[in-house]
Amino acid sequence: MLLLTKKTRFCCSHTLRKKEWNDQKNFEVFGQCSNLHGHNYILEVTVRGDINDESGMIINLNTVGKIVNEKIVNVIDHTNLNTDIPAFTDRVPTLENMVMVFWDWLEQALPPGTLAKLTLYETENNKIEYTKE
Ligand code: NI
Repeated sequence: MLLLTKKTRFCCSHTLRKKEWNDQKNFEVFGQCSNLHGHNYILEVTVRGDINDESGMIINLNTVGKIVNEKIVNVIDHTNLNTDIPAFTDRVPTLENMVMVFWDWLEQALPPGTLAKLTLYETENNKIEYTKE
């Protein structure tokens, strides 16, 4: 089994804030991230599979890139996640929640069983990895 990864970049703003908490509680939990700010995110989409003897590939990376652009980048690039993206209206756009939303958006667009792992970098120091196994 082989793992193949497509890396993509996008920019979003967000606020880490729960509506049901007051300003003080939000600041205690999320610190400065409870204020509106932005990140240059990097998303790595890893697909798994066996080599196709005819093409020599698992899946064409251009196909993966088109799906990532269509399902994620074109939807959220240069948006405010909290106010512009319904998935985050009632869900704090932490790295954890973002990567789980992205998984759902991508899994149904990629060939069945190929999505292996998502890695989302918020900064060069902070990243989340998600896999269902
Ligand atoms: Ni942030």
